Amino acid sequence: MPTPIAEITVRIEFSAAHRLHAKELSDEENAALYGPCNNPNSHGHNYDLFVTVRGPIDPVTGMVMNLNDLHRIVQERIFSVVDHKHLDDDLDVLGGRVSTAENLAVAFWEILAPEVQAFGPELSLIRIHESRANIVEYRGAQQ
Ligand code: NI
Repeated sequence: MPTPIAEITVRIEFSAAHRLHAKELSDEENAALYGPCNNPNSHGHNYDLFVTVRGPIDPVTGMVMNLNDLHRIVQERIFSVVDHKHLDDDLDVLGGRVSTAENLAVAFWEILAPEVQAFGPELSLIRIHESRANIVEYRGAQQ
């Protein structure tokens, strides 16, 4: 009988400030490209982060991964690092990359993928709602 595969997701909310500004572009180009998100004094979002992992359902426990472990990893490695911080000025997680939700998803993936893998399943999806209107999904780098 084939092994059933499932995906489980945890969700956390965090608040953070940022400014979209590409250092490769001039001030005028940045202002034109990012508009109000280039505001020199920054702005903030209430982010909604969804972390999805995929793996076989353990026949004994009935779980892909213990949700408590997944919650703890996301809490310790992401929430406690980014909540109420300035994503550009306070943190190293983006490594100088522009603090778009795309780059944030990649940075979170890099942090979480090895942590999840240590429990067995694979990180499957990072989904970030930067606002009710703006959503980014990331499924890892192309091989
Ligand atoms: Ni923004």
